[in-house]
Amino acid sequence: MKKVLVARGIFPEVVEALSQRFDVEHNADDRPWPVEELREHVAGVHGLMTTVMDKVDASVIGAGRELQVIANIAVGYNNVDVAAATKRGIRVTNTPGVLDDTTADLTWALLMAAARRIAEGDAYVRAGDWKVAFSMQAFLGADVHHATLGIIGMGRIGQAIARRAFGFDMTVLYNNRSRLSESEEKRCNATLVDRDELLARSDFVVVMAPYSPATHHLIGAAEIAKMKPTAILVNSARGGVVDDAALVEALKARRIAGAALDVFEDEPRLHPGYLALPNVVLTPHIASGSRATRMKMCETAIANLTAVLEGRTPPNLVNKELA
Ligand code: GLV
Repeated sequence: MKKVLVARGIFPEVVEALSQRFDVEHNADDRPWPVEELREHVAGVHGLMTTVMDKVDASVIGAGRELQVIANIAVGYNNVDVAAATKRGIRVTNTPGVLDDTTADLTWALLMAAARRIAEGDAYVRAGDWKVAFSMQAFLGADVHHATLGIIGMGRIGQAIARRAFGFDMTVLYNNRSRLSESEEKRCNATLVDRDELLARSDFVVVMAPYSPATHHLIGAAEIAKMKPTAILVNSARGGVVDDAALVEALKARRIAGAALDVFEDEPRLHPGYLALPNVVLTPHIASGSRATRMKMCETAIANLTAVLEGRTPPNLVNKELA
């Protein structure tokens, strides 16, 4: 029986399904294994299932002498050294598609929470500070309807975010490596502009680009300086795409009005500056977090892993040169 290592706690029924076919070791207590520990566990393993915060570096890949597949339970795979895996002929797979709508929903929840100061208002009510009913000037926020939404990174998730703007009568701008097809642009009601124009015109800037060396600090001090002072920045893509230190400084100085973030540079550690700021909404990397979607992500990862271990091409191969 081939050996499968599930590096983090996942649903028991998923582990059970895997156990029908494979000899499974499961990190049921969900404590993230540091690289040194992952290296020890991966010895003798044929298939490795990881989540997005499990670092599978060249040393882990080197220790997995029998490893045939790394099935990441995520659409992003910047936690895996794909080049090192490819060199060893190890397939790397991800879970695209199944989480687009759930991630777009959360992105909108963040956008609206920041615009309408939901987290601040909630904290105020719970603290017992609400003494005056309906105060005309309390918690004034930004209108979402008829505002301009700028999306940087217009893949499947970016497009799902754009489509949701329709009901708010928004103007949608986007910036992407390549232009969408005419029918996609129409469906999203979105116009391609260069990044500077997007930053200058948008009331809400949403970042939805995958992390890579090319997108490291894609939004830093210089980009924030180009945004409107009334604008709100939303990042539910990946930590590191936004420069946290620069954003903290900008929020402190009110260079922009606010931010809403689901991802951070050194998760789960936060830049300490965020905690003192009222104008930022913080969530703990939960964009794909509905039960149904997380189950679909697990099922997709299992399909990928099983395909490789049974000698078939997996549906979601990242290192295409190994197809
Ligand atoms: C989660 O962050 C993912 O990449 O799926």
